[in-house]
Amino acid sequence: RQISLIGVPMDLGQNRRGVDMGPSAIRYAGVVERLKKLNYAIEDLGDIEIPNPGKRPEDKGLKNLHEVSEGNIRLTEIVDETVEKGHFPLVLGGDHSIAIGSLAGIAKHAESLGVIWYDAHGDLNTGETSPSGNIHGMPLAVSLGLGDEKLTQIGHYAPKIRPENIVIVGARSLDDGEKELIKEKGINVYTMHEVDRLGMTKVMNDTIQYLKDRTDHVHLSLDLDGLDPQDAPGVGTPVVGGLSFRESHLAMEMLAEADIITSAEFVEVNPILDEKNKTASVAVDLMGSLFGEKLL
Ligand code: ARG
Ligand code: MN
Ligand code: MN
Ligand code: MN
Repeated sequence: RQISLIGVPMDLGQNRRGVDMGPSAIRYAGVVERLKKLNYAIEDLGDIEIPNPGKRPEDKGLKNLHEVSEGNIRLTEIVDETVEKGHFPLVLGGDHSIAIGSLAGIAKHAESLGVIWYDAHGDLNTGETSPSGNIHGMPLAVSLGLGDEKLTQIGHYAPKIRPENIVIVGARSLDDGEKELIKEKGINVYTMHEVDRLGMTKVMNDTIQYLKDRTDHVHLSLDLDGLDPQDAPGVGTPVVGGLSFRESHLAMEMLAEADIITSAEFVEVNPILDEKNKTASVAVDLMGSLFGEKLL
């Protein structure tokens, strides 16, 4: 099978610089070599162009709305073409606002798209509920069709996903508006409480079975801050008490075995905040497992 790597040097969805170097850090950590060893044909499409930030006071509440929208429009097109060619899109972030474009490019190819949102956060804010105005806290809401039209209408259709097709894993920081939306829409969430109580094996078994029964494509959106900051320190919005390196490996191995993932993105790797590229290396380790790496 063919994998197309798509780098998205986006840092305008939040306010800590450096996450735009995420794609370089992940390449430097050896992603291409790692996946080639697993007998995939890899095509690295390089980095898409992200516009320079402007000063736009009219973008009330939503920081860098115009630029985040433009960058995501380009990402949508490339992801769309990649799926069209029958390749697996592997998107390297960049902040999590790029999930808007990934999902916009993929969703039109699916009858029923499932999403696994591996993250400390829900990213279910809109301009009204966001405490920060940072668009990286909004992509899942946008994909449900909620928020500014410059984001929800990317790809000229909305919504991209149905609430019941979402499974959030690892949540431990949710804003009030996000909690309300989760209840209102009945979104499936395995918070850290459920992971602790049930164990990752059951969480993943249930997630896989649930999505298998109701979807024909599943996108994995993995925010490195879903992991504990001890294992993934190079992220802009770390939250203590997260998923371990081991739990995350197990999750990826179970997804590989179930063979349900049809597209993926690894986001929020910020090499400036990292310790010797540890977080990018963890990302590449997890990609290895996701694509079927085994010890024996
Ligand atoms: N909930 C906070 C906000 O909306 C933090 C979001 C963090 N998102 C992320 N993709 N790291 O500002
Ligand atoms: Mn512009
Ligand atoms: Mn997060
Ligand atoms: Mn996120």
